[in-house]
Amino acid sequence: MAKTRILVVDDEQNARAGLRTLLEEEGYEVAEAADGEEALSSLRSFAPDAVLTDVRMPRMGGLELLRRAKEEGSDAAFVVMTAFGKVDAAVEAMKAGAESYLLKPLDIGTVEAVLEKALEKRRLEREAAQLRERVRDRYRFPAIIGDSPELQAVFDVVRKAAPTRATMLLLGESGTGKELVAQALHEESPRRDRPFVKVNCAALSETLLESELFGHEKGSFTGAIGRKEGRFEIADGGTLFLDEIGEISPPIQVKILRFLQQREFERVGGTQTLQVDVRIVAATNRDLAAEVRAGRFREDLFYRLNVVAVTLPPLRSRKGDIPALVAHFIEKYSATYGKDVSGIAPGTLNALLAHDWPGNVRELENVIERAVVLCQGTQIGADDLPATLRGPRPGPRPAGGLIPGATLAQIEREAILRTLEVVGGSTARAAEILDISVRKIQYKLKEYEAQDAGEPSPPEGEESEG
Ligand SMILES: Nc1ncnc2c1ncn2[C@@H]1O[C@H](COP(=O)(O)OP(=O)(O)OP(=O)(O)O)[C@@H](O)[C@H]1O
Ligand SMILES: [Mg+2]
Repeated sequence: MAKTRILVVDDEQNARAGLRTLLEEEGYEVAEAADGEEALSSLRSFAPDAVLTDVRMPRMGGLELLRRAKEEGSDAAFVVMTAFGKVDAAVEAMKAGAESYLLKPLDIGTVEAVLEKALEKRRLEREAAQLRERVRDRYRFPAIIGDSPELQAVFDVVRKAAPTRATMLLLGESGTGKELVAQALHEESPRRDRPFVKVNCAALSETLLESELFGHEKGSFTGAIGRKEGRFEIADGGTLFLDEIGEISPPIQVKILRFLQQREFERVGGTQTLQVDVRIVAATNRDLAAEVRAGRFREDLFYRLNVVAVTLPPLRSRKGDIPALVAHFIEKYSATYGKDVSGIAPGTLNALLAHDWPGNVRELENVIERAVVLCQGTQIGADDLPATLRGPRPGPRPAGGLIPGATLAQIEREAILRTLEVVGGSTARAAEILDISVRKIQYKLKEYEAQDAGEPSPPEGEESEG
């Protein structure tokens, strides 16, 4: 391991030499500077972990050095040495960001202790900063809730594709979050300050869709009163989200294909060829490959759209995301409706985890919105859920007196689900409280999901965390 580096700054040569001997004996690597100016250049070249600096020096003093170093973004720990009786300089140094101070004449034992403490503090701060960065990195999609591996895999692709102009195809059942991902991709891309334009291809007739996309010239068709810019033009520099791309007719498929190949088009009824810089993101809940096989969707267009494809997993295959989504929607709709709902009553989450969610996140969002509206206290209860969800719950849920009469597996299930409820769905916090890994919780939720679906549970003792 590299030695810890200390920069000693003092205008008295003897003082520097004394400290150097002491610190080198302690195993540090030491560099010297005779004043603030010298120290600044050494900060850049030597990159010390800590700086021990005198206050009063010619050219540039210790306080000025400290300020300049912070301005330059140095994260070295500063310890200021000041003469006994000049404590106000020490106070000022601490205010300016010094870790600690030493009074001259120096006491060897104190130097070592103070320095070690300053270095330790700096190490912890660095670690915290790194951790913050990693967390930020992981949850860089603030609007998209869920930390299941299935969703993280989607984030990975989005993150990699975002800086490019590559066309993206989003597949997945209705309500799985395709539009949300399209927006996140735009927000993560260098195009974020340019428009994000959405066209729902299923909502318009063929003629209207064509003019909506490509614009039209005056009088080009009945009802085309003036000239109109199309969505491709409006999205110039940004992202064009073609929702329900599976619904477009063959003539429009040809026009979109041409755009993807040559990046150009004409307005309806126009002769001028227009060029725009637009990134295309297309989405469909149809099986587009099957549409191609059935001859309803052009194969060449499919391949042009399918440069980067992402399939949003259905909610039933990532039920581990349900607790966090529930907490998120409770917060959202409590605010919307000015209510004071803050959580979900014990046991109620179980009903949500047992449901199959054919409408995916959209269905869950609707259920929670309704529950927040109906809820009369601060916690959503079973009565606030639609009757179809309330149903008879599998397994006994006696409150409190669970232990006699329940299997260990039932008690474990109870513990995991109740803890998740209490922490508002955070698998990380639940894992911490229960002293098990997040993966284990995810695994268990999957298992409960399978049990509730009536599949046989894995034999006792053969579970794995992998
Ligand atoms: N992971 C998520 N976190 C938070 N909200 C989500 C998440 N996934 C979906 N939603 C919400 O669920 C609703 C449906 O999502 P979205 O419109 O993106 O689905 P979709 O896949 O485009 O569905 P469709 O195919 O029906 O158009 C939206 O209100 C969206 O904000
Ligand atoms: Mg959609």
